[in-house]
Amino acid sequence: MCGIVGYIGKRDTQSVLIEGLKKLEYRGYDSAGIAVYTPEGLKITKSIGRLANLESKLESAPLVGSAGIGHTRWATHGKPSDVNSHPHTDRTQKFSVVHNGIVENYLELKDELISQGYTFVSETDTEVISHLVAREYDGDIVKAVQKAISHMRGAFALGVLTEYEPNKLVAVRQASPLIIGIGEGENFIGSDIPALLNYTRKVYILNDGEMAVLTPDSVELMTIEGNFISREMINVDWDEVTAEKGGFDHFMLKEIHEQPKAYRDTMRGRIDETGRKVIMPELKLTPEQIRNIRNIHVVACGTAYHAGLVGGSVIEQLVRIPVAFDVASEYRYRSPLITPETLVIVVSQSGETADTLAALREAQANGAHVLAITNVVGSSIARDANDVIATLAGPEIAVASTKAYTSQLIAFYLFALYLAEVRGTQSEAEIAHIIAAMQALPEQVESMLANTDSIKAYAEQISKHPNLFFIGRGLDYAVAQEGSLKLKEISYIHSEAYAAGELKHGTLALIEEGVPVIALVTQEAVMEKTVSNIKEVKARGGDVMALTYEEHVADMLKSVDQAFAIPKTLPMLAPAISVVPLQLLAYYASLALGHDVDKPRNLAKSVTVE
Ligand code: M6R
Repeated sequence: MCGIVGYIGKRDTQSVLIEGLKKLEYRGYDSAGIAVYTPEGLKITKSIGRLANLESKLESAPLVGSAGIGHTRWATHGKPSDVNSHPHTDRTQKFSVVHNGIVENYLELKDELISQGYTFVSETDTEVISHLVAREYDGDIVKAVQKAISHMRGAFALGVLTEYEPNKLVAVRQASPLIIGIGEGENFIGSDIPALLNYTRKVYILNDGEMAVLTPDSVELMTIEGNFISREMINVDWDEVTAEKGGFDHFMLKEIHEQPKAYRDTMRGRIDETGRKVIMPELKLTPEQIRNIRNIHVVACGTAYHAGLVGGSVIEQLVRIPVAFDVASEYRYRSPLITPETLVIVVSQSGETADTLAALREAQANGAHVLAITNVVGSSIARDANDVIATLAGPEIAVASTKAYTSQLIAFYLFALYLAEVRGTQSEAEIAHIIAAMQALPEQVESMLANTDSIKAYAEQISKHPNLFFIGRGLDYAVAQEGSLKLKEISYIHSEAYAAGELKHGTLALIEEGVPVIALVTQEAVMEKTVSNIKEVKARGGDVMALTYEEHVADMLKSVDQAFAIPKTLPMLAPAISVVPLQLLAYYASLALGHDVDKPRNLAKSVTVE
């Protein structure tokens, strides 16, 4: 996820771009840059690090001109650096491009362009676009952009400027957001509404497969095939704070709703066109190394650890390699048995968690290959790991992790399928079957998010209780742990997660009349056993709510007080669905209790101390 702005008109272009980027820094902030059409031609300034670094470069050499594009980056292809920052240009330096998204076939396109004599200076997929536009240019920038994107697959929002036609700014949207702001004698583009609110409240929202051509006095909207379209102009009445949260009351709620997109983005480019195979071109781990793996350690903290519990179990199930799980703060101190045939998977949203980083170093010192699953490509963990699978969830602002957790699950599923294929532990048909079910997940989560009233009502009900329990078996137990952490973290209600069958070994003593118990019942192989455990709770007066599939709700209601239906999926994928109502439960309980949802007490987003 990156932020794009663009401007054409009579104001000081540089400051419009910088002010817009400030509002988009939440989308990524590992580097930033702007390109401005100046009297001396197209000029680009960019810098690694926060926007302030770019601002100080521009202080000594401002870019003065009448049109420009800007970008704040959240690295996906290529580490954060000056050269990988946007805008990118072509060899003639007459074209300039900012991009949000991923060009899936960029390696293919890059090879083709290199064979035609184009040279690349960055590691990004975006540079391919600037060369393509330059190659296709024949006196008409709109046609050149259309031809360029006809070669591209993937997700992209683009801003394109050329010195040859300085009176035009071209914008494209294909599966990455982009809006057009309308002014008097000036027009704007932006990844999001907050970037434009200082200047205009009139916007057009582009749909996928659409583009816009802006001059200071006009905006033409068309499909990427060039068919003109008309669109109703929207008048935005959000205040600025609401706008930054995309219209949601809190970042956490926004991030819960961003999960379908995070699933799609994390899968994008990692499933081949036939849908029968996972591809992981980013991995250095060779097939031979994969075949030699003797054991796997999954190490992480908090929510990332909970994602690891699910992911490691799925690997064990599909690939039949023994997996051990550790919270990172314990790992070094138990003298784990690490050999060069051990694969250590560290999981971290921020990539900066001190305990996880220390565990990574311990593993490497003992000769292990370390694979990091992280959301921040330029982070310490990403830099130090031997291999990285990036989760493409976009920056997570709320302290309570939601979309990072679920995109970590997706990364694990993909990696497990990749290992299963290389080691031949699952048939091609079985892998294709799981991939198809994964591809259905985003829509299934969207359908759940469309109606959250009953979970909200239940959250209000449980917010009056001081204690509650989450129970489940197998992967349901792993999700129960995440549900319990989420609730504690932001509602401050005490809760415990228990393996359903373990309750009777002591904790059942705490169940008395009216104690809420949330039972996850998605693992059909152990469903009957979970129902028996639910009955043990009911017999002691517990008030049980079950999360299960629609087809089991009627039966379940014979044993529980309430049941919520979730969309049906494969047992191993159920956590990517069942966790969502638990996130909402925590959110609405916190809200009912009047707490600061996004910034809970005593906690920090990134824990950089051991
Ligand atoms: O950045 P990381 O994923 O390494 O952070 C690990 C934990 O601190 C984090 O997941 C924490 O548990 C969450 N804030 C919980 O929502």
